[in-house]
Amino acid sequence: MPLLEVEGMRTRFSTDRGVTLAVDEVSFSLEPGEILGLVGESGSGKSMTAMSIMGLVPHPQGEVTARRLRFDGQDLLGLPARAMRRLRGSRMAMVFQDPMRSLNPVLTVGWQLTEVLRRHRRLDRAAARRRAIELLEMVGIPNAEKRLAAFPHQFSGGMRQRVMIAIALSCEPQLLIADEATTALDVTVQAQIVDLVRRLTQEAGTAVIWISHDLGLVAGLCDRVNVMYAGRVVESGGVEDVFFRPSHGYTLGLMGSTPRIDRGTGRLTPIEGLPPQTSKPPTLCPFLPRCRVAVPACENLMPAFAERQTGHAAACQADLRRFWSSAA
Ligand SMILES: Nc1ncnc2c1ncn2[C@@H]1O[C@H](COP(=O)(O)OP(=O)(O)O)[C@@H](O)[C@H]1O
Ligand SMILES: [Mg+2]
Repeated sequence: MPLLEVEGMRTRFSTDRGVTLAVDEVSFSLEPGEILGLVGESGSGKSMTAMSIMGLVPHPQGEVTARRLRFDGQDLLGLPARAMRRLRGSRMAMVFQDPMRSLNPVLTVGWQLTEVLRRHRRLDRAAARRRAIELLEMVGIPNAEKRLAAFPHQFSGGMRQRVMIAIALSCEPQLLIADEATTALDVTVQAQIVDLVRRLTQEAGTAVIWISHDLGLVAGLCDRVNVMYAGRVVESGGVEDVFFRPSHGYTLGLMGSTPRIDRGTGRLTPIEGLPPQTSKPPTLCPFLPRCRVAVPACENLMPAFAERQTGHAAACQADLRRFWSSAA
């Protein structure tokens, strides 16, 4: 049984400027130990997909619906708020891009870490302290023992982010969602965190959703990747399939003209134009106005999200095989 099952998930926001469909008909599942990447431009619905799963979409402006949203067999949408809170920070954890949003500025880092360990792992004070030091060392914080007494503002941004990662890992979650978690960190620390995450998936069977702008990082870390556009998953597959044999005009656009992630900069290539803000499910491919490889059928027909090869699907009507890497 998959650890996480998402089927037909929709997240709508109602504001005075109208309705936005932040997540539109998203479906995927995740096995224990699997690392799934989420990529796409800013505003494509990556964070909202994560927040919807974690039950963190603000109410009542935001509303999440799904034909199925299950964690370890349990229906998340039907779960009372208290039970959902208990799941978060114990069996599911999320690291946000901005750590100041999640750390309490008036409590020491040590207190915040040991509190989680005492509450969720039921460790006594001394054991929680030992584990807290171990966790800070794991995420590469030097002088961990001394650092326990410090307050969040005494840490640099990168250090705070590492503390957040330590807190997220402290409960040994079955599902970890990292939303641009290492974007602010320098490459050495990033590599250290990535190693740590990979080890966790192998040793503890943790499943990970890794949201990142860095295609190179996703290609190196993840098993599978979902490419998101306008709140939808437009391409999905193993990282090699998607990055060496991109099958959606948008994926191709993100990668630039050379679909060889190992030769490029790893960064998203800017695509001319802006992604649409949608209030209704689209009737044609939402990427059509910006697509370089559109074919006549794109003007008439909404592409089906169809499997190309086993486990590799895309919602695109153009044939992109001429762009595939011959070395793949
Ligand atoms: N609090 C909110 N109120 C209204 N709309 C929102 C809110 N948060 C996000 N959205 C909308 O949801 C869409 C997806 O946003 P998001 O998931 O944050 O994108 P990403 O993480 O891919 O950059 C955006 O187009 C944005 O307009
Ligand atoms: Mg985001």
